[in-house]
Formats: sequence, C-alpha cells, structure tokens
Amino acid sequence: MKKDRNEDTNIVNNQISEKAKLYGIGVGPGDPKLITLRAVEILQAIQVVAIPKSKMERESVAWEIAKSHCPSGVSILELEMPMTADESILQAAWHTAAEKIKEELCQGHSVAFLTLGDPSLYSTYSYLLAILRDQLEPDQIETIPGITAMAAAAAQVNWPLATGDEPLVVLPGIEGLEEYEQYPNLVLMKVSRNLPDVLNHIQRTGSQAVLATRVGQAGEDVRLLGPEEVLEKVDYLSLVLCKKPQS
Ligand SMILES: C[S@@+](CC[C@H](N)C(=O)[O-])C[C@H]1O[C@@H](n2cnc3c(N)ncnc32)[C@H](O)[C@@H]1O
Repeated sequence: MKKDRNEDTNIVNNQISEKAKLYGIGVGPGDPKLITLRAVEILQAIQVVAIPKSKMERESVAWEIAKSHCPSGVSILELEMPMTADESILQAAWHTAAEKIKEELCQGHSVAFLTLGDPSLYSTYSYLLAILRDQLEPDQIETIPGITAMAAAAAQVNWPLATGDEPLVVLPGIEGLEEYEQYPNLVLMKVSRNLPDVLNHIQRTGSQAVLATRVGQAGEDVRLLGPEEVLEKVDYLSLVLCKKPQS
C-alpha cells in the first residue's frame, strides 16, 4: 500500500531540521484521544510512516490510530516483523527493517516508526534501536513515549497499578508464575500465550484480577476474572492485572 511521497522538507515544530530523523512513536493503546501532543505534532509533518506488521496482509492497529494525524500523501513503509521465537528469523527481519529505514533517512526523509502503547515496553522498536543507534547520529533519533496498555487498562477499572511502597511486576507472558506469588501487584502481558498458568495463579493466590482485551479499540472487553474462571482463548491484545489480597 505504497502511497505518493510527500515532498515537504523535514518540518517539525515549524522548524526545518537539517537531518532526517527516526521517530519512535508510541501511539497509545487504541483510543485516538490517548496519543500525546508531541506524537501528533510529528505525525502531522512526517514524510514516511513505518508500520511493523507480523503478517503483511493484516491491518495495523497502530496505523489506524495514527493515520488521521498524517499528511494525506504520506509514504507507508511496511516492515515485516514475524511472530516467531526463531532468533535467526527475527534477526534477519530486524536488520532488513533497519536497512529500509536507513535508506529513507539517507534520502532525507524522516521516518515515524509506530508502536502500540509505549515504544520502550516490549516493542520491536527496541530491536531497531539496538541496530540503528550505532549507525545514526544521536540527534537523529527521538523516542516519543506513549500511554501503555497496562495504564489504560488500570484506568478503565479505576485501579491503582501500585501504591505506597508496593512493587509492581510486569511479566511478558512467561510460564512459571509461581516464582512471583509474593508480589502484590502483577501485570501479565501477552497472556494469550499462557492462559492456563494465569488462571492457576489467580486461583492459587486468591488474587483479584482484571482481564483487559483491546482496551480503547473496537471489541474492547475489560472485566473481573472470577477464581473459577474457565477461558479457552483470548485475543493477543489482552493483558491481566492481578492484585493479591492484603493480609
Ligand atoms: C508487544 S506487547 C506491546 C506493549 C505495548 N508497547 C504497551 O506499551 O502496552 C503486546 C502486548 O501488549 C498488550 N496490549 C497492547 N495493546 C493492548 C490493548 N489495547 N489492550 C490490551 N492489551 C494490550 C497485550 O498483552 C499484548 O499481548
């Protein structure tokens, strides 16, 4: 879906920047109102938008959020980021994506790489950064934070993620939750991968838990999980907030 290139110069904040820049933009969890003013400012003047896609034929949620802010002739750079644990496939995809971004920058086009939520939390942007940091000038990279899905989920149910001296542990869908039973507040990301483990954890610890699916998007479902909950499957864009009862 390559579109016509916008011929504007690198104008951001009404200033012409000398060098093309890579912007890592957090677009928030889904609600188009939960995007920062800085992100909008950059998107309004950007020449190329880079969209990571796990499958090229799928629509990108991040692009759905960002597109109304972009110039009509913006160029779209789709980057294939397969969902696999195969390190060699991942490395190849990240390097190919980094090369494509560099090609645009070398032509003087600034690139906005979109990330759902925040770019510093479990985002492919981090892998690109690791490659490009050594190849670009420090002032050629700007990361724009976004509202994380966990913050949006907590806000939906009016829960604090953590209070006072309590720790908050964020886990990326790993098995073996027993290790984390002592923690009062857990955020379990990518729960579609280990749902049985998550449900066992809630039952064992008597935690209060909220399952948040597609927060801020079409198909949003945010609800309390009971101790006897039976769930076969959840959408990939789901997370669970767990609070251990206070003793
Ligand atoms: C690769 S991580 C991206 C996290 C994202 N960078 C953030 O700041 O929230 C993907 C996981 O984030 C969570 N996630 C992202 N967006 C979500 C949403 N709108 N609603 C619920 N969970 C979401 C899910 O747990 C999903 O499996």
